[in-house]
Amino acid sequence: MVYQATASAPVNIACIKYWGKRDTKLILPTNDSLSVTLDQDHLRSTTTSRADPSFTKDRLWLNGTEEEIKPNGRTATCIAEMKRLRADLEAEKPNEPKLSQFYVHIASKNNFPTAAGLASSASGFAALVKSLASLYQLPSTPSELSLIARQGSGSACRSLFGGFVAWEMGSSPDGSDSLAVEIAPREHWPEIHALICVVSDDKKGTSSTSGMQRTVETSTLLQHRIKHVVPERMKVISEAIKKRDFNTFAKITMQDSNQFHAVALDTDPPIFYMNDVSRAIISLIVEYNRVSVDAGGPLKAAYTYDAGPNAVIYTLKENVKEIVELVVNYFPQANQFKDPFGLFGSDGVQGNVVTGFNTAVAKPFGVGAVKNLIHTRVGDGPRTLGPEESLLGVEGLP
Ligand code: ADP
Ligand code: DP6
Repeated sequence: MVYQATASAPVNIACIKYWGKRDTKLILPTNDSLSVTLDQDHLRSTTTSRADPSFTKDRLWLNGTEEEIKPNGRTATCIAEMKRLRADLEAEKPNEPKLSQFYVHIASKNNFPTAAGLASSASGFAALVKSLASLYQLPSTPSELSLIARQGSGSACRSLFGGFVAWEMGSSPDGSDSLAVEIAPREHWPEIHALICVVSDDKKGTSSTSGMQRTVETSTLLQHRIKHVVPERMKVISEAIKKRDFNTFAKITMQDSNQFHAVALDTDPPIFYMNDVSRAIISLIVEYNRVSVDAGGPLKAAYTYDAGPNAVIYTLKENVKEIVELVVNYFPQANQFKDPFGLFGSDGVQGNVVTGFNTAVAKPFGVGAVKNLIHTRVGDGPRTLGPEESLLGVEGLP
């Protein structure tokens, strides 16, 4: 009998940022956060887990290379928590095989760059937890699984749902109420698309984990943000999502990205995640929105940046073509734009700007300043896949 399961999970990019822990071991945040789950058809982690009595230790392979599972580290914690849930089930149903007592082999791959600021840790820990939940045949809800993914990487808890997702910070010291909840499924607002601008970044920045800890210890602005800014923003953006009010959604998303980077700057010593390319992309989106607003229209795009220089631009599907044209005008691409939604005909991207756009807001950059453009949209939550997607061979090795 082979006990094995494979699952895939999506990336999520926050509109209201998580930045700060009140408990670093349990990964309990200092504020609520909210994100959009991106489509796994484009960006995903896929993970196979197998339990077998012949295995001699828990092992993990990431993109084909074995990774050490550090005792008491984040991966070990997630595996231990999942085994605990399985043990509870076995105690209730004594005829079930005692999988909780076997070691596991886990193989995972990301179909996009790992540890490059594209949230692989979020999709990675969500896929790990989901594949173990399938292996162990747990009846757990996505919110229950989010409690465990959270202990792998905070932002991973939001990848247990598709659509629009909040991570409620909770108040219990044991973390039992610090979990993800769905604000709306993808079907509610499928027109939300995202354009990821992958910005070259040669030097290694400050990791989220260490950066946010330094912010908690030194930033007074963070205290203001936690108490007086995020609670109201969570309410307003959740309402905007429910009403499909893109103007409000965009306004809050940009404000919160700005404040997160302000809080990073308020850290001692200061942390800079954005670079000149990131700031130029902000100028383009601000000007693009100004043209619309001056003509009596709404905001049409929202930028947001995590702990790195890459931009994620949220917009409605109808505007993606204009935005790709705009970005390519300033950031020429070495490779042809991959056009998953067939927006461009055989002529490809021309690099046009919309009428009335003040081209002086940014200077054009050379090829490679924006390495790659990824067009995706709001997506669904983790998927359980069939045995044909397995990443482990008959021997239980990748
Ligand atoms: P990113 O910006 O891609 O999230 P991080 O440096 O924050 O980069 O996280 C990368 C780490 O996340 C990896 O070193 C690994 O520990 C973990 N990770 C990434 N992908 C996976 C995966 N598919 N399965 C398990 N862990 C993963
Ligand atoms: C800027 O979830 O990577 O992307 O919990 O220490 O693993 P750890 O941090 P992580 O931090 C994400 C920070 C962010 C904002 C967000 O995703 O909400």
